[in-house]
Amino acid sequence: PMKQRLLVVANRLPVSAVRRGEDSWYLEVSAGGLVSALLGVKDVDARWIGWAGVNVPDEVGQRALTKALAEKRCIPVFLDEEIAHQYYNGYCNNILWPLFHYLGLPQEDRLATTRSFQSQFDAYKRANKMFADVVNMHYQEGDVVWCHDYHLMFLPKCLKEYNSKMKVGWFLHTPFPSSEIHRTLPSRSELLRSVLAADIVGFHTYDYARHFVSACTRILGLEGTPEGVEDQGMLTRVAAFPIGIDSDRFKRALELPAVKEHINELTHRFAGRKVMLGVDRLDMIKGIPQKILAFEKFLEENPSWRDKVVLLQIAVPTRTDVPEYQKLTSQVHEIVGRINGRFGTLTAVPIHHLFLPLSREWTVGSFATDGRPLELPLLPLLLSAAFAAVATAVRSFRHCCCCCPQLSLLSPLLSATSIATATADRSLDFHALCALYAVTDVALVTSLRDGMNLVSYEFVACQGSKKGVLILSEVISESKVFHNFLAFVSSLSFVAYCFEKVCHLITFAGAAQSLGAGALLVNPWNITEVAASIGYALNMSPDEREKRHRHNYAHVTTHTAQDWAETFVSELNDTVVEAQLRT
Ligand code: UDP
Ligand code: G6P
Repeated sequence: PMKQRLLVVANRLPVSAVRRGEDSWYLEVSAGGLVSALLGVKDVDARWIGWAGVNVPDEVGQRALTKALAEKRCIPVFLDEEIAHQYYNGYCNNILWPLFHYLGLPQEDRLATTRSFQSQFDAYKRANKMFADVVNMHYQEGDVVWCHDYHLMFLPKCLKEYNSKMKVGWFLHTPFPSSEIHRTLPSRSELLRSVLAADIVGFHTYDYARHFVSACTRILGLEGTPEGVEDQGMLTRVAAFPIGIDSDRFKRALELPAVKEHINELTHRFAGRKVMLGVDRLDMIKGIPQKILAFEKFLEENPSWRDKVVLLQIAVPTRTDVPEYQKLTSQVHEIVGRINGRFGTLTAVPIHHLFLPLSREWTVGSFATDGRPLELPLLPLLLSAAFAAVATAVRSFRHCCCCCPQLSLLSPLLSATSIATATADRSLDFHALCALYAVTDVALVTSLRDGMNLVSYEFVACQGSKKGVLILSEVISESKVFHNFLAFVSSLSFVAYCFEKVCHLITFAGAAQSLGAGALLVNPWNITEVAASIGYALNMSPDEREKRHRHNYAHVTTHTAQDWAETFVSELNDTVVEAQLRT
């Protein structure tokens, strides 16, 4: 049996580096859904290639950091400060991110962005090329190269130019917007064409995949097929691979004495009050101001609840060099301050900063402290001709795949204001986060747009005993409707067309079950509706809570990050084999 290596390429490495001295580095686990999901993948021989989040201009520092990262099976891409600024702060997070989430720029920024667009796009391409150079340097024949997210849309093309035989997959962790939005990008065609150089392109939901295909047909004039996009006989597979979490890791954490103790502390601290929780990076897409305004409206309309409920909002600082994020930070602080001033009493405030006695030692088993390499036993990958033929015929065969460690992702939380914020280089300790999820009565996940949102999954995984309520933006239910629709259509095409496709579509439709049926779904822009849902959630009968929770829990515990990664890599392998058979 052959051991297939996986090169995971993402802008963000699972650890971010903090410099301690000329040749000494401290590594801490990075925040965000991409890192969480990939850390939930086990049983793969994986290496990570990415940016360590710091500028390291000197060779001594670069060498020392490369060595420190190698212990974690991470390989750094060094970007100089100007490129990193134009690529990461500029093109990625000031242009692509808001666009892909349907958020416009403020008028005054729009013109400035229009002017600097070309230089930022050039920096983006240069940065992608630097990633490609590092991948190419470490690539060995037979490796699978899995590129991640909107930072690296130019990468598949660069990689295929180096080596057309490289197996390249690309996965987007954000929504892919309607082609009407995508076509406003000056670099719209170039981006699509570079992504299409991959063998397979994956999205969280069918509607993102559908948007991508229609962008390719409308903007590039290519042909969209049920399998993907075709260009002069060359097929790029396009499919939905809904992500999940490593739910066992959360369940195991809840059994630890330290976490139990923490749960007791929190229960004691908030005795007599219902706990509502929000956990978000401090990002415009998360709808934090809207959520807090909805909570204010609820308090306004329900005076009897004012001293019986508390909202804990964890806001993890993110992309702090981008002006929009700075504006959001002060806006949120201002709103929280105003509401606490309005409804706070001598003994209690409605919106809380957390004061958790956290220490770094809590991060047992983390990248940051234990020094274990990122290696776990492998599942062999069988690529014999016979197996390939079977895999081609029956797509539901899932083989191979990848591994990663058990990690705590998060480091201590420090708070300074009336909203719980982690300082720029720190986020919440993993165990503290689990304890918070476990004591919560109502979780508020009201993103304006979100590729998937793992916080909602993590909350559900930790609610085995409490069975709290999840209030969730209706974006997830939209995709569910679409999945069901797709399952329906595919069952028709089952009769009319071929077996293989149906098998494929139904498998994914099944895996794409969302939390829609268990959560209270809201339009996050409608604060009246969110306020009403808060009231409904707080008053919900134990029976209804139990029923809703059961639905969510079944989904979260059966659609794991592991399945997600295995399915993607397996599909990538199949796609390459099929392409070879066709030629
Ligand atoms: N998270 C974190 N640090 C924190 C709090 C949360 O890294 O202080 C994690 C959280 O557990 C979750 C991820 O960040 O796994 C957020 O993922 P999600 O998909 O909800 O949103 P994203 O941040 O990727 O937009
Ligand atoms: C989202 C993106 C990820 C990113 C994460 C954190 O989840 O999809 O690619 O890593 O946010 O953002 P950051 O800019 O800190 O990497």
